[in-house]
Amino acid sequence: MANLELPDDPVAPDVAENGVWLTCVECGAEHAPFDDIIYTCPDCDGLLEARYDAYPTFDDFDGEGVWRYNAALPFEEGVSLPEGNTPLHEVPRLEEAIGVRNLRIKHEGMNPTGSFKDRGMTVGVRVAQELGVDRLACASTGNTSAALAAYGARAGLETLVLLPEGKVAAGKIAQASLHGARILEVDGNFDACLDRVQDLADRGEAYLLNSLNPFRLEGQKTIGLEILERFRDEEGRFPDRIVLPVGNAGNTAALYKCFRELVASGALAPGDVPKLTGVQAEGAAPMVEAIEEGNDEVRRWEAVETIATAIRIGNPVNAPKALPGIRETGGTAVSVSDEAITSAQRALASEGVGVEPASAASVAGLKKLVQSGEVSTGEDVVCLTTGHLLKDPDAAAAAGNDPQSVPNDTDRILKHLEGKKGHLSKMKELL
Ligand code: F0G
Repeated sequence: MANLELPDDPVAPDVAENGVWLTCVECGAEHAPFDDIIYTCPDCDGLLEARYDAYPTFDDFDGEGVWRYNAALPFEEGVSLPEGNTPLHEVPRLEEAIGVRNLRIKHEGMNPTGSFKDRGMTVGVRVAQELGVDRLACASTGNTSAALAAYGARAGLETLVLLPEGKVAAGKIAQASLHGARILEVDGNFDACLDRVQDLADRGEAYLLNSLNPFRLEGQKTIGLEILERFRDEEGRFPDRIVLPVGNAGNTAALYKCFRELVASGALAPGDVPKLTGVQAEGAAPMVEAIEEGNDEVRRWEAVETIATAIRIGNPVNAPKALPGIRETGGTAVSVSDEAITSAQRALASEGVGVEPASAASVAGLKKLVQSGEVSTGEDVVCLTTGHLLKDPDAAAAAGNDPQSVPNDTDRILKHLEGKKGHLSKMKELL
């Protein structure tokens, strides 16, 4: 199992640059961050983690968005559109229907390209500039490709994205396309795309910006920092639990790193660390399987399927960082059906919060865990919604009301409306 313990008093090794270096979470080897281009440990192929010579406290943060948290990041500023500073919605009817003390929705769909990926990309593309690369690449279920294309365009760099053919939602392809990415549709699922793009990166053909890249996760840590700061400011305490959809488990790993660094600085008491709770679709749930069976390693699922195409992933590459995160924080993982995902998507929409299917998995998972008694009704919970409704217009239209055709005549429109009062569905019926 990966060693994710942080030293109390970190001392920068010789390989560090400006107090930043990379540590292998498997063998502990330390590597220079911006000399050679590496994604995993050159010695043992383990996952790498960015490390710093100082840990941040809440007093170190100043400004807006992701770069407010630059005391916890490898650079002062980056290629920005700008990103972060997303809403932490109150959803009183949904809160009541699910039955927890306090439910908030952290809507990451409100980032510039409509998903949390922008937080990772603003940092990742800044690192790419430091390394002097000229072509960026990723495998993607869609959102990473949209963010890579936009941030690459902003930085004036060439972008290449590999997508599973026929399995990426329309809004995401449109974004990658208009922002000028070269789009390759691969005859295989996301995991196959990631295998291919890793080969391309290993051959020096492109700089890899999937969440295997440790700097992407540094940017995504800021989701946790924002949640903790705002929840504390508004409620006077930290949330008990954060529930999030899981694909590659990058966010799960990033949130856990956020908590570990805050505990190391003394800004967060160990007893206040929120329980990380991952949700996967039943048709793509290798992390849930590992948690339920108590395995240290995740078995790769070759065949995956779900309406939540963003998390249609069978080989979560960040599992060695994420499994300890779920276990050490006292969290859990749960899988949900596509029907439950669609119901949760409708329920969120009825509170005015428009999300894509993968995002709704967090709410569906929370509901299931409250019903089974695994989550107590006394908890303060934040559900992460990772992508915007418009990312997947086909899923939204299929889950929503059908348009009704009427003649171009006011009297006949009124007649059509008679007796057919558009009723607001009750939250309990939706969920
Ligand atoms: N939600 C959405 C909307 C996503 O796009 C993704 C990942 C996840 C959740 C899962 O996050 O990988 O950190 O566990 N999408 C990637 C992509 C794989 O290519 O856009 P994770």
